Amino acid sequence: MSIRYNEHTRTFHLQNDTISYIMTVLPGGQMAGLYFGSRIHHKEDFSYLLETASRPMTSYLYEGDRTISLEHIKQEYGVYGSTDYRQPAAEVIQENGSRISDFRYIRHTISEGKPALPGLPATYTEDSSEAETLTLFLKDPVTNLSLKLFYTIFARGGIIARSARFINEGTKTLHLSRAMSLCMDLPDSDYEFLHFSGAWARERHLKKRKLEQGIQSVGSMRGNSSHNHNPFIILKRPSADEEKGECIGFSLIYSGNFLAQAEVDAYDTTRILLGIHPDCFDWKLEENESFQTPEAVMIYTSHGLNHLSQTFHKLYQKRLARGVWRDRPRPILINNWEATYFDFTQERLVDIAAKARDCGVELFVLDDGWFGARRNDHAGLGDWTANRKLLPGGITELAKKIEELGMMFGLWFEPEMVNKDSELYRTHPDWILSTPGRSSSHGRQQYVLDFSRPEIVDYIYEQMAKILREASISYIKWDMNRSITECYSYAYPADRQGEIFHRYILGVYDLYERLTSEFPKVLFESCASGGGRFDPGLLYYAPQGWASDDTDAVERLKIQYGTSYCYPISSIGSHVSITPNHQLNRITPLHTRANTAYFGTFGYELDLNKLTEEEQEAVKQQVLFMKKYRRLLQYGTFYRLCSPFDGNVTAWMAVNEDKTCAVIGWYRILNQTNSSFTRIRLQGLDPEMCYTNNMDGQSYFGDELMNLGLITTDAAAGEAGGDIIPSCDFDSRLYILKAESLSGKSSS
Ligand code: DGJ
Repeated sequence: MSIRYNEHTRTFHLQNDTISYIMTVLPGGQMAGLYFGSRIHHKEDFSYLLETASRPMTSYLYEGDRTISLEHIKQEYGVYGSTDYRQPAAEVIQENGSRISDFRYIRHTISEGKPALPGLPATYTEDSSEAETLTLFLKDPVTNLSLKLFYTIFARGGIIARSARFINEGTKTLHLSRAMSLCMDLPDSDYEFLHFSGAWARERHLKKRKLEQGIQSVGSMRGNSSHNHNPFIILKRPSADEEKGECIGFSLIYSGNFLAQAEVDAYDTTRILLGIHPDCFDWKLEENESFQTPEAVMIYTSHGLNHLSQTFHKLYQKRLARGVWRDRPRPILINNWEATYFDFTQERLVDIAAKARDCGVELFVLDDGWFGARRNDHAGLGDWTANRKLLPGGITELAKKIEELGMMFGLWFEPEMVNKDSELYRTHPDWILSTPGRSSSHGRQQYVLDFSRPEIVDYIYEQMAKILREASISYIKWDMNRSITECYSYAYPADRQGEIFHRYILGVYDLYERLTSEFPKVLFESCASGGGRFDPGLLYYAPQGWASDDTDAVERLKIQYGTSYCYPISSIGSHVSITPNHQLNRITPLHTRANTAYFGTFGYELDLNKLTEEEQEAVKQQVLFMKKYRRLLQYGTFYRLCSPFDGNVTAWMAVNEDKTCAVIGWYRILNQTNSSFTRIRLQGLDPEMCYTNNMDGQSYFGDELMNLGLITTDAAAGEAGGDIIPSCDFDSRLYILKAESLSGKSSS
C-alpha cells in the first residue's frame, strides 16, 4: 500500500493490492477526484483525467477562463454556490448571511496507521502497517474555516475510510448546516442503486433500481438509523452479480439521522453523498471550535457482490468490532421474551433456564420486565433496580442461580428511555427530549431521555454500572424501542438546538464506551425493536445485534440475506422461536427454524419445557451441531447463492478458511409436486479438493460443485413412501461438505 504525492502535478495516488484512488489539486486549490477503481500503474501525471467542458449556460470560476467550472469537475468535497450546482457536501452559514464557501488546499500529511475519531466509532488498525492515512488541510479564505479531509487506505482489499473535520480558525461564529462524511463524484451513471429498506419486522430487504438523472436517496430523520432504511448503499454495474462485476459499497459508521444519496447530473456523472442528514442539522462553531463527521467506508471490487460483502464482513468483524468477544464464537443463548413476555416469576425463569441447560444452551437472558414497577409496557423504564416481588434476591441472586446451573447470565436494559410512570420521571420530568409549549408524542408509552446532556448519561451509567458491579452478568441486551420526536433540549440555547440529534447519539456512544471499558468481559448485543439501529456505529461497541423482532424462519431469510450485504454473520442475532410464530402465526418445521438461525449468532426464544420430548431431543442435536460448526458459520467466508427476493428457493453457504469444510443452507418456501430438476452452483471451495456430501455420502470435487453445481432436486417428487422422506412447505436442508482427507477418504 502507498500514498504518493507528485509536487509538480499536485496529484495524490492512494494505491494498494486492489485499488487506486487518485485526486488532484485544481489551480484554484479545490480538490478534484480523478479515479476510484481497480489498481492501475502509478504515473507522475494523471492530468488527462481532469475533464473540463466549455458549454453554454455554464458558469466559470475565473474571469477570462472558460475551462474551470466546478459544475463539470468531479470533486472531492463539493460545495454549492461558486459554479457547482449539485447538492453539496458542506454548507456554512456565516454571520453576514452568506452560505458560500470555497475550501482550498493548503498542505497535507501522510502517516502510517489510522487516527481515532474522538467520541465516535470508527475502523481502526492494530498495527500501523495495516493502513496509511492522508490528511488534506483545506481552508476557506474568507471565513478562515479549516477543513481536514481524512483518507485511510487499508493495506489489503478495496477499502477507503473517509471523514471530515471542520475547525473555526476565524473570529466569527459559523453554523454548519451540512457536513457530510463523504462526497464522491463518479464519471458515469451506468449503475444500479441497491439499498436495504423495510419497516419494523421486515428490515433490510434488498431494493434495486437503475440510476437515473436526478436524485435518489435513502435516509433517516428518526434519530436512529432505523428499520426503514440502513446507512448502506451499493452502486453496481448492471451486469455485475454475486460472482462478478464492479460494485462499490458505501457505509456510514453512525447510528442517528443519515442521508445516503446519489445525484446524477445532466452529463451523467454521479455524485454520492453520505453522512449525517442535513435536515434539522445545524452545528454552531465558535472561534476554535471543531466538528468531526462520522466515518464513511467505501469499498470497491471488480469481483461481484459476494466479494464486496466479504470485504465488509472482514473489516467490520476484525477492525470495527472490538473487545474480548470480537473473535470468539458466540454463546448459544435462550431469551425469555417470547416465552413469557412480562408474565414471569423467578421460579419460571429458572425452570426455563434449567431445561435449556439440559439441552446444552450456554447463556440465559432475562429480557424486559425485571425492574421498577414494570409489569407491562406502561411503567418502569428509567428505574433500573430489580422488582423484589418478582426477584426476591434481586438480579444478584437470580444471576447466581443461573450460574449454579452451569450457564452464563444476561440482562436486558433500555437505557435511553423513561416511562412517565417511573420514579425517574417523577423526579426529573425535564429530562426528556421535548419542545416547549408542545405536547410530547410517545412511542410504546415511553419518552426519550435527553442523552445530549452529560449529567443524564452519567446518571444512567451509574444505575447500570451498579447492577453490573453487584451481579455476575456476562451479557447485556441494550434495547431502544422508539424513535425521537419533538427533538429539543432544555440544556442548550436556541442556536444550538440543531445539534441535539447528533449530541444525543454522541451520548449513546459515550455510555457504550464507558460500560464496555469498565466491563470488558461483558458481551453486548444491540437492539432497537429488533433491527431499528442495526448499523456499523453500534457494531463498534456491541459485536452482535438483534436483527429483527420477526422470528419467523421464512421472513428471516429475507432479513438475514439483506443484512448480509454489509454485516458479518457473527453480528446477526437470530433465534429459534415457537410455532405458531408470534409475528405471523405461521407454522414452520423446527429444523427450518434452526437451519435459518444457524447463520447468525444462534439461540432460542421460547420455553423448551413446552416442546415434546422428540422436539427437545432435536434441540439437543441442534445445539451440538451449532457448537461444532459455529466458528465456521460465524467467522467463515459467507456466500449468497440464491436470493429469497427472486423466487421460492433461498441458499447460502459458509466455508472455513482452508476450504476443507462448508455448510450450505437450502430453503424452499412452498413445496412443489413433481417439480423440475434443480442445482445450485456453490462458491468458495477448492476446485482440487474432493468433498464428501453428508446428504448422499457421495464424493464431489470442488470444481464439480462450483461449475455444474450441487444437485438439489427433491427426491420425493410428490410421492412419499419407502425411504423417501416427504418434504413440506417451508422445508430446508443443510448440506455439509468435508474435504475427504479429513473424513478419512482419499481423493485422486
Ligand atoms: C423489543 C425487542 O426487540 C424484543 O426482543 C424485546 O426485548 C422487547 N423489546 C422487550 O420490550
